[in-house]
Amino acid sequence: MNTKPIGIAALLFALPFYAQADAVSELEAQYRAKGAGPFSAAAGEALWNKGFIDAKSGKERKCTLCHTTDLTRPGKHVRTGKVIEPMAPSVNPKRFTTVKKIKKWFVRNCKWTLGRECTAQEKGDVLAFLKNL
Ligand code: HEC
Repeated sequence: MNTKPIGIAALLFALPFYAQADAVSELEAQYRAKGAGPFSAAAGEALWNKGFIDAKSGKERKCTLCHTTDLTRPGKHVRTGKVIEPMAPSVNPKRFTTVKKIKKWFVRNCKWTLGRECTAQEKGDVLAFLKNL
C-alpha cells in the first residue's frame, strides 16, 4: 500500500497550524523578554470587549467594532466597510501566522482603539485569547 499521498495531505493540513504556533510563540518570547507574562486569555477577552473613549470625537472605540464579538464570523471595517476575514484560527487558519503582520496590526489597531500602543502584557493576553478560538 502506498501511504505517501495521505502523509503529504496531512502535512499540508498541519502546516498552517505550525505557522501559527511559531509566530505566536515567537511574539510571546519577545513579550516575555520585556518582562511581560504569564498571559491570560481572560484578560485578553476583557480587553477585546472593552470600550475606550476617543479623545477627539468623544466616541467609544473597541476591537469588536471591526472584528465583531463572534470571531468565527467575518467582521467589517467600521470606517471603510471592507470585509475582514474571521479572527478565529479554527475557521481561518491563516490567522496569526506572520510575526510581521501581527505586529503591524497591533500597532495600528491599538493606536486607533486605545489611543496608544498596547503593552507587551496586553498583546500577550489578547493573543492568548485569540489563538485558541
Ligand atoms: C478600525 C477597524 C479595526 C479595529 C477597531 C481593530 N482592528 Fe484588528 N484588524 C483590522 C484590519 C483591517 C486588519 C487586517 C485585515 C485582516 O487581517 O483581515 C486587522 C488585523 C488584526 C490583527 C492581525 C491578525 C493576523 O492574522 O495576523 C490583529 C492581531 C488585530 N487586528 C487585533 C486587534 C485588536 C487587539 C483590536 C483592538 C485593540 C483591533 N484589532 C481592533 C481592523 C481593525
